[in-house]
Amino acid sequence: MNDGLALATRHVAAAPAAAPPPAMRLEKVSKRFPLRDGDSLEVLRDIDLDVPEGGIAALLGRSGCGKSTLLHIVSGLTEQDSGEVWIQGTTARAFRERGAVGYMFQDDRLLPWRTALNNVALALEPGRMGRGERLDRSREMLEMVGLAGFENAYPNELSGGMRSRVALARSLAPRPGILLMDEPFSRLDAQTRSAMHAELVRLRDLLGMTVLFVTHDIEEAAVLAEQVTVLAPRPGRVVERFDLGRSAPPRDGTSPEAVETARALKAALGEPSAEIDAPRH
Ligand SMILES: Nc1ncnc2c1ncn2[C@@H]1O[C@H](COP(=O)(O)OP(=O)(O)OP(=O)(O)O)[C@@H](O)[C@H]1O
Ligand SMILES: [Mg+2]
Repeated sequence: MNDGLALATRHVAAAPAAAPPPAMRLEKVSKRFPLRDGDSLEVLRDIDLDVPEGGIAALLGRSGCGKSTLLHIVSGLTEQDSGEVWIQGTTARAFRERGAVGYMFQDDRLLPWRTALNNVALALEPGRMGRGERLDRSREMLEMVGLAGFENAYPNELSGGMRSRVALARSLAPRPGILLMDEPFSRLDAQTRSAMHAELVRLRDLLGMTVLFVTHDIEEAAVLAEQVTVLAPRPGRVVERFDLGRSAPPRDGTSPEAVETARALKAALGEPSAEIDAPRH
C-alpha cells in the first residue's frame, strides 16, 4: 500500500519533467571534410546547441567557421561525423516529416523563368497537393509576405527585397515548424533588412515557428535573435552563448540595449570594439 502510494507520488512528481523537447538540439556535433591530398579539414568540433520551441536563435561567426555546414547538418543535407542532432525529440536521421523543416538559402534561388507565384508553388510540388490547392496556398503566402499583386511578376522584375520575400514565402509555403535561414538578408539595404526582420518576427508569431538563422552581421544578431551562439573558426566551435530573451525582437539597433549587446557579441567574436566606439566621419 505504502509502496503504491510512494509510486503514485513519484509518478506525480515526475510529470512536470515531461516538458516538450526543444525544437532543435545538437550534442557534440563534429564534422571533417576530406581534402584532395588525403588529409581532412576539421570544420566543426563538439557543437552543442538547444533551440527552444518557438524561439529565434542565431549562429554568429566569421566567414568559414562552419555556419552553413551546421545548417546543412540540421536540415539533413549533410551528415555529421559524430554527435547527434535532434529535431523535436527525434534524431534528425529519423526525422523525415516532409515540409517540417524549411530552408531559406543565402542566395534566393528563384527560377527566372517562373513567376513569383510559380516559384512559391515549387516548394509544394513534391507533396500530394493538387495544382489548384498549391496555387491557392502560394497566393496566400505571397499575400502574407506583403506581395499581393505581384503573383505574375518574374524575378527580374522584382527588387532585391521583393525577391527575398518571394524566397521567404517559398520556404514558408509547406508550413514548416522549423525555419533554417542562411544569411537570408545579407544582400539587402539596411532599411529593407529592418523591414524583413519585423516581417520574420510577425510570421514567427503568426505561424508559431522556431527559427535558426546564420549571420556574420553582429547588429542583425543583436536586433533579431532571442539567443545567440557565437562560433570561432578553424575548427568551428562554440565560444559563447547569449540569452537576449528579455526584450522582444526586432529591437531598435540604436537602443542602448542593442548597442551593448552588439559590443558584447563583438568581444566574443574577438573583434576590437573600437569600430563601434569610433565616431563615423
Ligand atoms: N563540401 C565541402 N567539401 C570540402 N570542404 C567544405 C565543404 N563545404 C564546406 N567546406 C569548407 O568548410 C569550411 C566551412 O564552410 P562553411 O560554408 O560552412 O562556412 P560558413 O561559416 O558558412 O562561411 P560563410 O560565412 O563564408 O558563408 C570552409 O573552409 C569550407 O571551405
Ligand atoms: Mg555560409
